[in-house]
Amino acid sequence: MPHVVFIAPRFLGNTNRYVKAFADLDITLSIVSGDPAESIPEALRDRVAGHYRVDSFLDSAQLTHAVRAITKSIGRVDRLAGMLEELQLPMAEVRDALGIEGLSAATARNFRDKDRMKEVLRANDVPVARSTLAGSRRELERFVAEVGYPVIVKPPAGLGARATFRIENADDLSAVATPSPREPLQVEEFVGAREHTCETVTIRGVPVWRSGTRYFPSPLEVLETPWVQYAVLLPRETDDPTWTQFHPINASALTALFGDQATTAAGTALTHMEWFLRDNGSCLVNEVGVRPPGVQIMPMMGLTHDTDLVADWARLVALDEFTPKPRTSAAGAAFFRGQGRGTQITAVSGIERAIEMCGDDLVEMRTPKVGQPRSPHYEGEGWAIVKHPTTDGVKDALRALIENVRVTYG
Ligand SMILES: Nc1ncnc2c1ncn2[C@@H]1O[C@H](COP(=O)(O)OP(=O)(O)O)[C@@H](O)[C@H]1O
Ligand SMILES: [Mg+2]
Repeated sequence: MPHVVFIAPRFLGNTNRYVKAFADLDITLSIVSGDPAESIPEALRDRVAGHYRVDSFLDSAQLTHAVRAITKSIGRVDRLAGMLEELQLPMAEVRDALGIEGLSAATARNFRDKDRMKEVLRANDVPVARSTLAGSRRELERFVAEVGYPVIVKPPAGLGARATFRIENADDLSAVATPSPREPLQVEEFVGAREHTCETVTIRGVPVWRSGTRYFPSPLEVLETPWVQYAVLLPRETDDPTWTQFHPINASALTALFGDQATTAAGTALTHMEWFLRDNGSCLVNEVGVRPPGVQIMPMMGLTHDTDLVADWARLVALDEFTPKPRTSAAGAAFFRGQGRGTQITAVSGIERAIEMCGDDLVEMRTPKVGQPRSPHYEGEGWAIVKHPTTDGVKDALRALIENVRVTYG
């Protein structure tokens, strides 16, 4: 039986779903966590062979120490898994240090470091926006002089659209904190486009299944427009050229980023690729994560393919197995964000009307509550997931949610 170590930061809701998924497999399961062994959910405790608590689960030295201890007590580790974006590089460093099969630190950086990602893609003729990593104001200004306004600036290893800004003119540019070799800034040509995702399952580098979504509107517009509600749509059609035209680019991008590790255990993955579709029909890769996607795409993929994608992912990374399922419906997620200033929610309205309009299409809803603190994340304070046999049915339900639910800050 393969021995899999899963990194569970804390034994909380979503993470416990992943722990359970691994516990249900025919494997020896060990866990590294920021929480003590007593916090392992009761029902899963018997299934956990080894447990090691660390103070900081993002620190690769602590993780290495933990996995080494587990190796000593339980045995050789075959796979090391974790679903957070920030964990991918530390986990790869542990694999390198202990000789565990899978994504190495060098390959993980192709995904984690936005500048390197674009360099690798460009070198392999995968279309991406022009970009550079500016280590000084001169480099920043030189890039802007070359590509013109607007540009996008963002942290080289960001996530969740944090600290990402559109720079329209010289005034905006002078307001940007001066980058330095120690704190460089990723600068990119601004791409005005629709934003899509492509989720791909590869087994040793070979794509075996794809799904995709569209963001309404783009995460950048969501950031720039504090009151706007946000939606993600997973369409019913699997043969829509809007999505399928991107598949060859998706395949080349993954081959390029996995590089010489593509046909190894590292190339067995669920990847989350964000891409731009411009008005002229051309597609550009924006970024890629080697991990399960956020913004409710995991449950949406499960609903639309009559499966549990978390369980499927665990099986994939632990055992190299994946059974592609057909898509039988469309799904969508709406994110509720408050309007106004203030640091907490003072009013929520339209919930009943939205629920009534969605009817049977509503699958799950996290209602924003009065008194809840304002979320630092662009996803907002609540969400709802809908499902319908048709894409248009899902669009109607998303519209009902977004147009009726109002959250006010005060
Ligand atoms: N070159 C670009 N042109 C236009 N918008 C961009 C560009 N780069 C990023 N964005 C916007 O910023 C968002 C966050 O950037 P992204 O590269 O995806 O970083 P993160 O890791 O924070 O998600 C994107 O979803 C998109 O809306
Ligand atoms: Mg992104």
